[in-house]
Amino acid sequence: MLVCIPDVLSKQEVAEFRRIMDAEPWEDGRSTAGAQSAEVKQNEQLAPDGPTARMLGERIVKALAANTQFISAAVPLHIFPPLFNRYVPGKYFGEHVDNCIRGDHLTGLRIRTDLSVTLFLSEPEEYEGGKLVINDYYGSHRVKLPAGHLVLYPSTSLHMVTPVTSGARVSSFFWLQSMIKDSHARRMTFDMDNAIQELVERLGRNDPEVRTLTNIYHNLIRYWAEL
Ligand code: NI
Repeated sequence: MLVCIPDVLSKQEVAEFRRIMDAEPWEDGRSTAGAQSAEVKQNEQLAPDGPTARMLGERIVKALAANTQFISAAVPLHIFPPLFNRYVPGKYFGEHVDNCIRGDHLTGLRIRTDLSVTLFLSEPEEYEGGKLVINDYYGSHRVKLPAGHLVLYPSTSLHMVTPVTSGARVSSFFWLQSMIKDSHARRMTFDMDNAIQELVERLGRNDPEVRTLTNIYHNLIRYWAEL
């Protein structure tokens, strides 16, 4: 399941991020790649352990913690410290596998990657090419979102970034471990939560059936969540 979440960062925040990032040196993106992905990865990254990436990453994680749509879709347990990349003309990331386990040596955090996230920090009209292509059971999905929006997609998918032919594609990318490992279960709780929120709008939070459905929603999370 692909979920796009709008306005995780405001346009003003994106502009501030870009100002800060533009002043930083960029390094070869292969420093964080696995054995397979290193062979097809051609992009640039901010130093993953550098103070700028960590500071901006913390701001993203804070924004995510306040985003109810993100929480509902991902049910995050651990979010890996966000990384930042840039694709200038000629750069691309061929079809690859995301490592199943990722460790962060600064914090000691180790996660199972259930969901991959790309948070776009360039507007679509700032660059040509640079589409995120995600291949799953349902086919091939091409994603290019406005700056400040993100896409959540299964880390189990093969995916790629097509070559940028003009401009620059800047984004943050990271992984997370969900409390709900099973993607079908996670999909059902997300759908149910969305339906309940619609009913709350129409009937209020304390309509008896809404209350019952809310209880079932919490019980399903209780049933599936692993902490
Ligand atoms: Ni990837």
